[in-house]
Amino acid sequence: MHSGWHVAIIMDGNGRWARAKRRPRIAGHREGAKAVRRAVEAAPELGITTLTLYAFSSDNWSRPEGEVHALMELLERYLLRESNRCLENGVRINVIGRRDRLSPRVLSAIRRAERITAHATKLHLRLAVDYSARHAIAEAARNAPAGATLDADSFSVLLSQAIHSDPAAPDVDLLIRTSGEQRLSDFLLWEVAYSEFVFTPRLWPDFDRADLERALADFQGRERRFGGILEDVV
Ligand code: FPP
Repeated sequence: MHSGWHVAIIMDGNGRWARAKRRPRIAGHREGAKAVRRAVEAAPELGITTLTLYAFSSDNWSRPEGEVHALMELLERYLLRESNRCLENGVRINVIGRRDRLSPRVLSAIRRAERITAHATKLHLRLAVDYSARHAIAEAARNAPAGATLDADSFSVLLSQAIHSDPAAPDVDLLIRTSGEQRLSDFLLWEVAYSEFVFTPRLWPDFDRADLERALADFQGRERRFGGILEDVV
């Protein structure tokens, strides 16, 4: 019996959602933040114990300044407003990624949210911010003690340190990407080694509990062999 799924989501399509409604891109992100709340609320009820959301990739710094600012503000507001509700609902917040390029305001909201929710146990919510898997892997390699004999397990620990993640976070079981795109875009390259992938045409602001249920049902219908043969799996 599994102890709960780790689901990771590349939340894509906010801009297209806004364009279809002739609204500014930022309106799409705002609606996307609502979809984040829905997913976080539904996750524990669907057997998800770790949820990793790609909120801001390191490549996103190249977007227009106003959009970057709006995304950072949304993130800060989410952390400030949702921390207490997360605590009440047993949600532990952890922001993964780089911290050396974030503003003091965002950093302080992150630290506060992580402190307030530190002991919650129902859902581990990991928000990836200024996240690049390649950068994280390079950083982990740089931090390896000289002459250390690395294996996959010890490298995983270095990797979680490089992104400020809990080293106990399990590998990803299911990766979902919305909006019809079928790419990884530098997200969790190491941690998705054995993940199942589900791609849905739904735009992230429209993504709801039923979409999450469908993705999980699709995933649970698959045979996961981890390189072995079916009989090996108990
Ligand atoms: C992709 O849509 C989405 C993002 C770059 C950011 C995701 C951010 C949120 C869902 C809102 C804030 C997050 C939190 C945690 C409160 P896109 O802009 O790339 O869409 P497009 O491909 O249609 O242009």
